[in-house]
Amino acid sequence: MTATSVRLRPTMTSDLDFVISVEQDAANRPFITPWERTQHEGAIRFPDFRHFIVEAGAGYPSAGFVILQGCRNPHRSVELKRIVLLPAVQARGVGRACIRLLAQLAFRDLGAHRFWLDVKALNVRAQALYRDEGFVEEGRLRESVRTDSGYDSLIVMAMLEHEHAALVQQRLQGAA
Ligand SMILES: CC(C)(COP(=O)(O)OP(=O)(O)OC[C@H]1O[C@@H](n2cnc3c(N)ncnc32)[C@H](O)[C@@H]1OP(=O)(O)O)[C@@H](O)C(=O)NCCC(=O)NCCS
Repeated sequence: MTATSVRLRPTMTSDLDFVISVEQDAANRPFITPWERTQHEGAIRFPDFRHFIVEAGAGYPSAGFVILQGCRNPHRSVELKRIVLLPAVQARGVGRACIRLLAQLAFRDLGAHRFWLDVKALNVRAQALYRDEGFVEEGRLRESVRTDSGYDSLIVMAMLEHEHAALVQQRLQGAA
């Protein structure tokens, strides 16, 4: 799957059954805290959020969803609140392509200075992807989320405007 075969479109209320089914999928649940439908409805409506459906592959079927928060943040600090893909499309490069599109959206279109997220410590797969895409670990919120067997920590990761610009430059030079 190449980056060009992945795109984002604004989520509509009619997409919410799909969104909730992806979020509730047993394979995804250990890594996220599912939202109520009303929270998704709010994120579609409120200008501080951007809620997108990920479309990937031939014919661009829906492959997952992403949510940005802090799009109106006075400190220009935009959060990647959620990224969840259908299990069937995972580990094929779609997540990486999304992270690149989202970083570009955050820094170029939303004018972010900082693009950040938190990720559960047990989610080593997502951490590897974020690190590889230029996010830097900033700290840990120890035992801050409940799990079936106790607690897990959240790792805060972020990328700054100048770090993203350097990465884009590096990729351009690599492609030249
Ligand atoms: C996390 C997620 C968005 C990543 O998207 P993806 O399309 O599966 O990931 P990609 O195929 O783009 O893989 C990118 C990198 O992730 C890491 N990765 C992917 N699958 C992995 C696996 N099974 N084990 C370890 N690392 C893995 C690798 O670093 C990989 O890079 P590589 O292909 O060069 O080795 C997706 O797997 C997902 O929706 N997971 C469930 C929900 C979730 O964890 N969301 C994030 C919450 S913070």
